Amino acid sequence: MPVRVCFVCLGNICRSPTAEAAMRVLLEREHLSELVEIDSAGTGAWHVGERPDPRSRAAGKRRGLDVDGRARKVIVDDFERFDFLIAMDRSNRTDLERIAANAEAATKIELLRNFDPEASRDAEVPDPYYGEGDGFDRVIDICEAACVGLLQHIRETHGL
Ligand code: 4NP
Repeated sequence: MPVRVCFVCLGNICRSPTAEAAMRVLLEREHLSELVEIDSAGTGAWHVGERPDPRSRAAGKRRGLDVDGRARKVIVDDFERFDFLIAMDRSNRTDLERIAANAEAATKIELLRNFDPEASRDAEVPDPYYGEGDGFDRVIDICEAACVGLLQHIRETHGL
């Protein structure tokens, strides 16, 4: 059984598809793509069916990340399907805790940056959607750093 990871943000068009793309590069590099399955979703439904924000796609392309997919909303079944639900910010985490059917399901939720040993406790991936400038590049930096730690954690907890 592969380990299954779902990255979660608000719209599923900026941060979570970026984290998914950063993780995909790491998994391919480590030949773990068959053993770790990844996906992303949003807690909000405004952008369901859309491809990622063009600013996220462009920033990713400049950095060798294929930021793609179609936005979807988190569903309660995601807590059955995935081993990890990785929230980008504390608000996403709170929303996921409300969606989780029970306390055991909620143990699958963690903040992405809590896997980055350089980040402070409960640090967030800032929402770049309404921001200007280099917010999208900063999201990539943050996701790349934290995904290294997340993959390390998965290796340790699942013997990969
Ligand atoms: P994301 O960014 O959660 O990183 O995908 C956002 C995208 C859209 C909206 C908010 C955040 N929105 O309000 O439409």
